[in-house]
Amino acid sequence: MNQDELKALVGRAALDYVPEGAIVGVGTGSTVNCFIDALASQKQRIRGAVSSSVASTARLQSHGIRVFETHEVERLPVYIDGADEIDGSGCMIKGGGAALTREKIVADLADRFVCIADASKRVDVLGRFPLPVEVVPMAAAQVARRFAAIGGTAKLRVGVVTDNGQQILDVSGLAIADPLAMEAEINQWPGVLCVGIFARHRASICLLGTPEGVQTLS
Ligand code: 5RP
Repeated sequence: MNQDELKALVGRAALDYVPEGAIVGVGTGSTVNCFIDALASQKQRIRGAVSSSVASTARLQSHGIRVFETHEVERLPVYIDGADEIDGSGCMIKGGGAALTREKIVADLADRFVCIADASKRVDVLGRFPLPVEVVPMAAAQVARRFAAIGGTAKLRVGVVTDNGQQILDVSGLAIADPLAMEAEINQWPGVLCVGIFARHRASICLLGTPEGVQTLS
């Protein structure tokens, strides 16, 4: 199976985690697109979705799935999203698709985070994938210097403006040994809107697509 087939496999597998009559939290990315397309075949089973990006909203709506605003819901039973990296404790790097801030907001509403990913995303230590950080443009250089001081190299994602009108720095060279501590530290830097470490909002379950089938990690 190639990577696209593995993404489709876990996209379909995630349907088992969608309760009858639910409003579902929906992430962003190519793996989530597979989930959205699978969800469309069962759209009568759910009330609708809360989406983490303009792109996912458009895809959900193109399938006739109702998209609720975050203020219309108090809790979600489940949030389903992909990851750029996931470690053995469910901590993740996210934001390759620049949707990290809204992803964290919707994940925060959910009782359960189901991560769907192909096997290439599973790592022992986070940090090989450059860490996305959404920043207010005025703070970009200042935040980049802070990363340099802890051994990271921050590059502006040129030509990208997020759904929130901000910029993305991609930071390489970090070995994220303590994801919880690093997430908390970077979140305090002025001008950082969101760091793409998902440790406080780690995955409760990961459906990993492997050539042998779906491996469930929890
Ligand atoms: C978007 C994300 C995605 O979940 C992450 O980039 C994985 O994407 P894909 O499923 O396309 O590999 O965090 O901001």
